[in-house]
Amino acid sequence: MSNRSLIFLSILFIAIILSCQKDPVVEPEPTDPTPTSDYTSSWDLIQKRIFAPKCVECHTSGNTFANQSGLILTEDVAFQNLIGKRPTNMAAAADGLFLLEQNGLSSLYTSFLWEKINAPDQEHFYQDHPEYGEQMPLGNESLTNGELEYVRQWIVAGSPETGFVADEKLLEDESIFEAPDENFEPLPLPTNGYQMHLGPFEARPGAEREIYEYKKVGNTEDVYVNRFEVRMRKGSHHFILYDFENGANLPNQDQTRDLHNGTGSYNFSTLNSIEDQIWVFGTQLRETDYTLPEGVAIKVSANKSFDLNSHYVNYGNEPVEAEVYANLHTVDESDVDHIAEQLFLNNQNFRLPPNQRTTVNTKYRFNERRHIFMLTTHAHQKMEEFRVFIEGGPRDGELVYFTNDWEHPILRQYDPPLTLEPGEGLRGETIYNNDTNQTLDFGILSTDEMNIIFGSYYTD
Ligand code: HEC
Repeated sequence: MSNRSLIFLSILFIAIILSCQKDPVVEPEPTDPTPTSDYTSSWDLIQKRIFAPKCVECHTSGNTFANQSGLILTEDVAFQNLIGKRPTNMAAAADGLFLLEQNGLSSLYTSFLWEKINAPDQEHFYQDHPEYGEQMPLGNESLTNGELEYVRQWIVAGSPETGFVADEKLLEDESIFEAPDENFEPLPLPTNGYQMHLGPFEARPGAEREIYEYKKVGNTEDVYVNRFEVRMRKGSHHFILYDFENGANLPNQDQTRDLHNGTGSYNFSTLNSIEDQIWVFGTQLRETDYTLPEGVAIKVSANKSFDLNSHYVNYGNEPVEAEVYANLHTVDESDVDHIAEQLFLNNQNFRLPPNQRTTVNTKYRFNERRHIFMLTTHAHQKMEEFRVFIEGGPRDGELVYFTNDWEHPILRQYDPPLTLEPGEGLRGETIYNNDTNQTLDFGILSTDEMNIIFGSYYTD
């Protein structure tokens, strides 16, 4: 008998023993999924382990802080005071936020509670919403990264009052988000890889500045990038690295292209130059260090250029110096099992009649197995909400992406990746509010609309 058949037989043997052992039920199936927990549900854990020690001292009946915030978080009333309630903070209420909703993923982005505690987003919180007050817990260290992840998973699971929806082990991560150093230092050069650099350039006070520069990576042969490290000066909104569709008109090398002209309206030539862009990597955080899934890398062909896009918003009175460093770390070809592909799902066939809301549904099916590890979307000003669902298969209809911000759509990473079998795909659901007197359809001007799902994936 060959070795192989021996191995096969022994596996079969073990499998039979295991399946036989299962037959006479020795022990009753545990009914409680986390019998060792001190808590009765995920919500109970959040209440007792996070709110009670870190929030209730202020958010308790009769306390002046509780009066100011209008929010009591004691165990008896916290749940009903959060779910479906509008914030006391007027700016947040006017922005349509709730303290917390129970719609899963999208509730993260409509939740003022989450905005108030989400420490890694601190800079955007204060820069974009100076009227939102302070991050919580007021005057204390932020919640730990473990606590935040626990609360995040609970919200994504629909913020249920009963049942366990997140793993208590998450709380073992007691690290606390640290804001990047105020003194800006360039990123050190990568040991293996290339550094790209944008700026310094100036963002005028009371304005925003968004620029593009088409730049060479610096590689003279094909290379494989599996890690992106980005560092930007304070005030940055986002940084995105774009490629172009085959056959696109490429912008001039090394030339700074401003999206807005001096008067704040759009620069037509820049809009024109970004029409055929394909998203490769992006971040909204000032410090990012992102490694692609194990064995996956982006192939960057010899003498490649990328279009670097940086957006600064300056609500202050002084000019802001803007600058971005991006390190593209490479690995040896022999360490690459899968080449990352860019997902580019562009619906150009939609019509938005005047003076009404329209929902555009677009289905995409793939004919091979795909593992998606990043998603983002692109639309213009009339977009109110962009959702992406899984289409087909056992997870049909599952919401995997949501954004309600056309200018800064969320970039979502999936670990583990979303694996879609042949014939399954994605469905985009986009709500537009066309408040003009004209029908709108696909086009590159900010007064036109777009409907694109971007992402990264690999195949087997
Ligand atoms: C030292 C007192 C103090 C602590 C501790 C504290 N808060 Fe607050 N909280 C306030 C004050 C004051 C406000 C109103 C001003 C503001 O929003 O910055 C507020 C506002 C809020 C709001 C906005 C309410 C609304 O409807 O506008 C939320 C949500 C909130 N806190 C949640 C929390 C959570 C969760 C914790 C614990 C992780 C916490 N707070 C800890 C004092 C505190």
